Amino acid sequence: MGNIISSKEVSATLRAKIRERSLALQENCGIQPGLAVILVGNDPASQIYVRNKQKACEELRFHAFEYKLSENYTQDQLLDLIGVLNKDNKVHGILVQLPLPDHIDEQTVIRTISPEKDVDALHPTNVGKIMIGDYEFLPCTPAGIIELIDSTGVSIDGKQCVVVGRSNIVGKPMAMLLLHRNATVTICHSHTHNLAEICASADILVSAVGKAHFITADMVKEGAMVIDVGMNHDENGKLCGDVEFDEVAPKTSYITPVPGGVGPMTITMLMKNTLHAAEMKRQK
Ligand code: GUN
Repeated sequence: MGNIISSKEVSATLRAKIRERSLALQENCGIQPGLAVILVGNDPASQIYVRNKQKACEELRFHAFEYKLSENYTQDQLLDLIGVLNKDNKVHGILVQLPLPDHIDEQTVIRTISPEKDVDALHPTNVGKIMIGDYEFLPCTPAGIIELIDSTGVSIDGKQCVVVGRSNIVGKPMAMLLLHRNATVTICHSHTHNLAEICASADILVSAVGKAHFITADMVKEGAMVIDVGMNHDENGKLCGDVEFDEVAPKTSYITPVPGGVGPMTITMLMKNTLHAAEMKRQK
């Protein structure tokens, strides 16, 4: 049976350090890290994520600025709001919860956020910086996954890593971070031939597909590490990942559960990025 990676422990250790740095910044420089979170519409999953971000801000003594906007909020209104937040000295990080309603263009919104406040690391400037390995912010989910892998003591260097999924928010940056750690990386997606075979070659398999029951035991090498980024609901409405956990776990060396795996780390890394944005302000 694979060891279950405890994100609770990894996350708690990191949050304690973030809280310490945050309090020091407030005491020494009078700067309280501030995070603005914008939610447009009533998507239930997004509402839960936004609530969890607010809770994390309370726990770490960050200032939370919340904007819960109606489904009908226009793109121009949203761009104006971001313009105001870009200039607000109390706001160090701006996060626009995705997905946005269809009448709002995601890329236009992302490009409007000041790169110094882009704590999601989605602005083209920050994406480019990640590509060359000289960056301020890392995207929260991939950065959290690297922390989870590191917590096991298993080295990424030289390993065969397979990432399933090529989204801008997880798959692509995940592959880049693994590459920075000297892994040999394969990115798979919906057009990939021989998907099962490629997955079964992985020492570290990261699944960011968004489909329940997607990764089955035949797709996993004996002794592999499996990281499950999926946040799905099964036939009974129960929260589950992409990985068929019960049949896959016995083959693995390490595996992340859903819930309680990658999810909690994402918010911790968001807090880390917001703190970093506030600390950069001090240095200026
Ligand atoms: N929706 C789901 N995950 C995320 C995330 O990490 N950032 C943003 N902005 N929206 C999301």
